[in-house]
Amino acid sequence: MYEHWEDLEAACKSCRKCSLREGCTQVVFGEGNREAKVLFIGEGPGEQEDVQGKPFVGRSGQLLDRMLDAVGLSRHKDLYIANIVKCRPPQNRDPLPEEQEQCIEWLRNQTALMHPKIIVCLGRISAMKIIRPDFKITKEHGIFFEKNGSLLMATLHPAALLRNPSSKPGAFDDFIKLREKMEELGLVEKEA
Ligand code: URA
Repeated sequence: MYEHWEDLEAACKSCRKCSLREGCTQVVFGEGNREAKVLFIGEGPGEQEDVQGKPFVGRSGQLLDRMLDAVGLSRHKDLYIANIVKCRPPQNRDPLPEEQEQCIEWLRNQTALMHPKIIVCLGRISAMKIIRPDFKITKEHGIFFEKNGSLLMATLHPAALLRNPSSKPGAFDDFIKLREKMEELGLVEKEA
C-alpha cells in the first residue's frame, strides 16, 4: 500500500505483473480530481486511451463527457476516473479474471487514498468486479448499494450506449440520480 499518489503512480507505471503490459503502449493510471469524493471505474483502456495514456478519451469517453456535462459535472473537477485493468487488452477483449485480480491492487490503493463517498461502475465488467459477481447491469443500473462506507452504483458502459442508443435515456436517468445523490451528500451545490 502506497501512501502517496506519486509513489503509487510510479509503481503502477512500472508494473509487469501480467502479460497485458507487453501488448500495450502505456499504462493508463487514471485521471481527474484526486481530492474528489466520486470515483468512476471503467473496464480497461481501449485504443485511444492506450495512445493518449488517459482513461475514456475515445468515442465512449466523449459520450461520457457529454452525459456528465448534461448534469453539470466535470471529469476534472467533480470526479476521478480509473479502470479495473490499467493496460489495454489485445483487440479490446474483456480483461481475463486473473488479469483483473492482479491489477485490482492498484485500484484498491487509489480507492484507499481517495476515500470516495460514491463509486460509479461503468459497465458490466466493472460492476461484477466491484459490486457483486452476479450483478445484472440491465436490471440493477442506477441503484445505490452501500459497501465499506461508500455508495456503489453502476450504469451502462458508454460503449454499450453507442452500440445501442435506445438505452441512452435509461443511462441518463442514472446520471441524474448521481447528481441528486451528490447534492444530498453536499458534494455539489443544489442546481437552481
Ligand atoms: N472503456 C473503458 O472501460 N475504459 C476506458 O478507459 C476506455 C474505454
